[in-house]
Amino acid sequence: MADEPRQAIESFSLEGRTLLPPDDFKKDALVRDQSMYDQASEDWTGFWATQALALDWFEEWDTLLEWDLPFARWFGGGQLNVSYNCLDRHVAAGKGDKVAFHWEGEPGDTRTITYAGLLDEVQRFANVLRSLGVQRGDRVAIYMPMVPELPVAMLACTRIGAAHSVVFGGFSADALRDRIDDAAAKVLVTADGGWRRGAVVPLKASADAAADQAPTIEHVVVVRRTDHGVDMKEGRDHWWHDLMEGVAVECEPERMDAEDLLYLLYTSGTTARPKGIMHTTGGYLTQVAFTHKYVFDIKPDTDVYWCAADIGWVTGHSYIVYGPLANGCTGVLYEGTPDFPARDRWWDIIERYGVTILYTAPTAIRTFMKWGGQEPAKHDLSSLRLLGSVGEPINPEAWTWYWEHIGGGRCPVVDTWWQTETGAIMISPLPGATALKPGSATFPLPGVEAEVVDDQGKPVERGGGYLTLTRPWPSMLRGIYGDPERYRETYWSRFPGRYFAGDGARIDDDGYYWLLGRVDDVMNVSGHRISTTEVESALVDHHSVAEAAVVGAADATTGQGIIAFVTLRGDFESSDEHGQLLRKHVATRIGAIARPKTIVFTDDLPKTRSGKIMRRLLRDVAEGRSLGDTTTLADASVVEEIKRRAASAPTED
Ligand code: PRX
Repeated sequence: MADEPRQAIESFSLEGRTLLPPDDFKKDALVRDQSMYDQASEDWTGFWATQALALDWFEEWDTLLEWDLPFARWFGGGQLNVSYNCLDRHVAAGKGDKVAFHWEGEPGDTRTITYAGLLDEVQRFANVLRSLGVQRGDRVAIYMPMVPELPVAMLACTRIGAAHSVVFGGFSADALRDRIDDAAAKVLVTADGGWRRGAVVPLKASADAAADQAPTIEHVVVVRRTDHGVDMKEGRDHWWHDLMEGVAVECEPERMDAEDLLYLLYTSGTTARPKGIMHTTGGYLTQVAFTHKYVFDIKPDTDVYWCAADIGWVTGHSYIVYGPLANGCTGVLYEGTPDFPARDRWWDIIERYGVTILYTAPTAIRTFMKWGGQEPAKHDLSSLRLLGSVGEPINPEAWTWYWEHIGGGRCPVVDTWWQTETGAIMISPLPGATALKPGSATFPLPGVEAEVVDDQGKPVERGGGYLTLTRPWPSMLRGIYGDPERYRETYWSRFPGRYFAGDGARIDDDGYYWLLGRVDDVMNVSGHRISTTEVESALVDHHSVAEAAVVGAADATTGQGIIAFVTLRGDFESSDEHGQLLRKHVATRIGAIARPKTIVFTDDLPKTRSGKIMRRLLRDVAEGRSLGDTTTLADASVVEEIKRRAASAPTED
């Protein structure tokens, strides 16, 4: 019986409908009409200059934009400090007692962190970093669970002009070491562990394995979170709480140039080696503050905003830490999983803190759909007024469910398209002004210009093609750390003069943008970017593997799942156990998020006569489609054999 109303609603769809902003929402919205788009199209650089003035500058810029394609410099000559903009100016304006974060640990412990409290901790940790020898221009690696010390560490870096490189806590020791090496980080900030689904994630063990082999690391700072006993290496490792005791409470913010490096964030591309995406100070903060304010229609005095991402990804950098704090907003920070201790944890959090804005990923929404509408129905979610989505295309069914079951049919849903490289949201509705279409990210934001082009790079006014960006934007990546040529080659060479994002898109008859997913060898699993080549090299790095080809296949919950086709060396037997072993090997090399869902053992891979693996066919096999053109195959019988094996290969959830 309990299932009945749910089924009725699940068969209801908003697909194909256009939804005007609800009157109740629109009447108080920051943007209610097209005027901001008009302003931006009259003078797009001037528009960004106006947005930059929302920040506090020690010194105003003298050159708004220098554009030497593909290298941009925004706000040249300007000086500012990110931690000052996120903290000091709010405290100086009398908002020291305002809550910056309601933090909640997975076991249920909580902390309320005010702007004044955060400023105090940030200054002290900035002094700690200095005492460990960190100077302006250095890099600091951060590998932490979702605890308040994570944003403290990031902001402390910005205070003294060191760049941080946050590595998601789900990455392996190997992945962490590679990132430390690439950035030549001096200090690593970590924790004894974190809580996840009731168990301790042994972060310090991975941090040790990485730091032991990373010659640039001089000190490791360890936050005590789980207290389950870890090894501390004499001279190298220090407890956070020991260092914070007795350190000076004041630390003047460094005056940083607008173009100084703010952080590195590594992301997967089409090669095996992750790229250190570089973001700088003035342009990045300008665009994250602007987009956070207007896309989420922020009213700092009344909103309780929750971006339920992990700070280890760009979404957390821009929309948990920098955007919300620059706007003086109150946020929620939650450490654990949505199903601990029960499947209504998020809805319980929303009810208790009176969350007004929720920002999450389609994978989470589809998981909640699977768990059923009775979970959110246990809680009063009437505080919510706006919902956001990010990370993958949101299918109209998930959009409808989100709108209905979480938003109660009254909250606009903003689907926001962007990337680690873009730094901030690029395509999204402005919720008080844009008529929504479920499943569409709608239009480029004011100040942003996007075009869909065909194979030849010719703009397509209506229809499908490749999504490109046609002019620089303030929060754009400034390059790939240590590799300017790779930057040019990766993003600016496929369509000359345009930034190509790797995504396919379609423009419908009304000019709405529909994101269609990646068109390159990058998979999107639960909103996380993973490169097929990276997983392939992790597999062939195992001594039993002769050859491997990896594809992303459509998955109802996670968007895509990783399917690996593996040929073993002569002496090795294909078996379920061996499949498990290889999965584990990938998790050790990269992290659990990259573990293949299915491993199909095969004696051969489909190749062209010139020896190139035909992934397209493998994708067809993995998704159970009839096969496309096989005439270019060197040996057509290979595919039949693979199809047979794929049908019986064990799959892990
Ligand atoms: O394929 C697009 C997808 O996520 C990619 C960027 O991944 P990452 O750098 O990890 O950043 C994720 C969070 C911003 C994009 O190239 N993507 C992101 N948002 C959307 C999306 N695909 C469709 N719709 C979106 N709203």
